[in-house]
Amino acid sequence: MSVSISVSVYDEATSTSDLAKQALLDGALSGTAFQALIQTKGRGRHGRFWSSPKGNLYLSLVFLPSRPMMEWPGVSLVISIALAKALGQVIAPNRISLKWPNDVLVDGKKIAGILIEAHEKGMIIGIGVNMISAPEVSDGGWPTICLADIIKTNKDETASEAMISLDAFRDILIIEMETALSNWQISGFQACLQEWMALAAFLGQMIYVQDDTNDRIEGVFRGINPDGTMRLELAGGDMLSLAAGDVKRARPVASLGN
Ligand code: BTN
Repeated sequence: MSVSISVSVYDEATSTSDLAKQALLDGALSGTAFQALIQTKGRGRHGRFWSSPKGNLYLSLVFLPSRPMMEWPGVSLVISIALAKALGQVIAPNRISLKWPNDVLVDGKKIAGILIEAHEKGMIIGIGVNMISAPEVSDGGWPTICLADIIKTNKDETASEAMISLDAFRDILIIEMETALSNWQISGFQACLQEWMALAAFLGQMIYVQDDTNDRIEGVFRGINPDGTMRLELAGGDMLSLAAGDVKRARPVASLGN
């Protein structure tokens, strides 16, 4: 049941998720992971390009869940918690938050993204972390930030944060992922719902979400359901559950008048 991760490192790949997908099709064990120092065709959610220059972390993992497929969407939220915990060992945890479904933010800017690709045999978990550069996300996405910039701007006598190497951060993240995935195998997502909520960005705020059909829906973010879907309270009070989408903008409810 417990998940053990072993990583092979490549100088370059089209996408580490391509390497992991091939491994999955070839019958690789759960926990087989690939890191590349550069990706030439990195991909993000919704078919976006994920710029992948040298120095940032690109990691993909073959995961063969023991839980039923209908519960697999919870894995992306579980991984976002693992990422937040790993980052919290390097920078002040109170600067870290999670933007549904699985973006990791520092000071409100995106530092990491997760791409889950489900296949018949299992899933590929792809993770990108901005270590030393913060490429813009294509199609006018959320503002981005990188670890090196956070640590540089903290260089005062009270700052305790120091830049961590790519390898050291990867190793911390792997330990957090092993724990998170092993716990999920035993207890499912519901066991970490409160943990996700404690890290949630924009709770109680007016957000605007673009769903899979490109429709824009506005409402107050009320958190997530036990299955990981978003709870959005529409004007008029109806509660909508959204399984997929992108949060495009957020603002406090108090500022709605303008
Ligand atoms: C997102 O859109 O936020 C998800 C980005 C996921 C990027 C990672 S980098 C490692 C893996 N390989 C890819 O091509 N994509 C994922």
